[in-house]
Amino acid sequence: MSSKNAEVSLETLVSLAKRRGFVFPASEIYGGISGFYDYGPYGVQMARNLKDAWWDAFVRSVPNIYGLDSAIIQNPKLWEASGHVSGFNDPMVECSECHSRHRVDHLVGKEMDKLVDYTPLLSDVKCTVCGKTGHYSEVKTFNMMFKTNVGASEDSDSKAYLRPETAGGIFANFDQILETTRAKLPFGVAQIGKAFRNEISPREFLFRVREFEQMEIEYFVNPEHADSELENWKQIAWDWLKEIGLDESKMEWHEHDDAEKAHYAVASWDINYDYPFGSKELWGIANRTDYDLKAHSKESGKDLTYFDTVKNEHITPYVIEPSLGVDRLFLAALHSAYTEEEVNRESRVVLKLAKGISPVDVAILPLSKKPELQKIAREIYSKLVGGTGLTVEYDETQSIGKRYRRQDEIGTPMCITVDFETLEDQAVTIRDRDTMEQKRVKIEELVKHIG
Ligand code: GAP
Repeated sequence: MSSKNAEVSLETLVSLAKRRGFVFPASEIYGGISGFYDYGPYGVQMARNLKDAWWDAFVRSVPNIYGLDSAIIQNPKLWEASGHVSGFNDPMVECSECHSRHRVDHLVGKEMDKLVDYTPLLSDVKCTVCGKTGHYSEVKTFNMMFKTNVGASEDSDSKAYLRPETAGGIFANFDQILETTRAKLPFGVAQIGKAFRNEISPREFLFRVREFEQMEIEYFVNPEHADSELENWKQIAWDWLKEIGLDESKMEWHEHDDAEKAHYAVASWDINYDYPFGSKELWGIANRTDYDLKAHSKESGKDLTYFDTVKNEHITPYVIEPSLGVDRLFLAALHSAYTEEEVNRESRVVLKLAKGISPVDVAILPLSKKPELQKIAREIYSKLVGGTGLTVEYDETQSIGKRYRRQDEIGTPMCITVDFETLEDQAVTIRDRDTMEQKRVKIEELVKHIG
């Protein structure tokens, strides 16, 4: 058996994701809408598994990290205080030939530096849409927050924003969480939820979209411990990605220089993943200092300090923020798992997703649609669905070979086949996705074998 993953292209992943019901372009029947995707039946389950794994690792099993689910639309003053109204901008230009709009940093192929004037560089750059060179409008900045109105009127008093990050809701609830949990430093608040950014040029499938999901922790620490806590979180994040099956050889650290850092950060590190289109940010880990708590305290008039019983004084904690995008993680997990193999001169595509991450844990496949086989297969299905917490699929259509290939392509680790011998020996065949080995197991011992 020969196996390869190294050269998998983005087109291959997009095609598999669509063909097998993981991800569809949003509102495709109307021509789609750039920067938005829908997760299909297998995609939504896999994304849920990734989020559950994150929540289990960082909230449910950690005594000093508390969960939160804050509203997507908050009082707009929150985004003024956080600096997003004034500072969340990308420089962009319009091609004067075809009127397409572009992010300047993408056109010139450099990380954005807010202090640099890119105009001279643009004179040699081709428009990626019409191919004309150097016909650009002047560079303008563009705020990436989606705006909406709350209530019946559409005037400036009713203006609100769809959140550009989940973190804002965490800072705004700092004092209530502190009061209700009686937490002591260091402690974290974690949230999984949608974020929205009106990206100028959404691209690379799920990598840069306009509606996405974040898994964020704001970890409040004593300012003196911020540097060591940052190092600690870098290690935790790296280890967790390995645990859920990402290929470590495709991961690397990237430290932000001053030009790249967000307006609130003094130190920022990314775990980059080597996607088919290059090594790019998957998980950002930043030291946001006391910027947010102080800014919200000033704007709202609410005291957002913490009473340090050792020092016997009020301090404003620093924040270490590990912020991970669900969609980028989903894409990296698909990419790491995608494998093409040659088996007995036939090729197969298999997603070697980690156990617990694949959308289906076990597939039950009766060899034929004969009622006596269906009856046993359905009994096994009910038993596993009810008693194990596993996601189980029942499939009786097409040849058994085609059904195995289909399960391989969606990454199902185990298939259980009910055949005519089952009627005699009360046993079934378990097929392993990766080795394709088959073993015979008594039905009464199934749970023990697959649990
Ligand atoms: N609260 C900090 C924050 O939002 P960020 O680096 O802008 O920092 C954090 O975003 C993470 O959110 C990124 O590491 C990435 O995984 C994800 N992300 C950001 N913008 C995205 C986009 N347009 N599409 C998909 N994921 C995105």
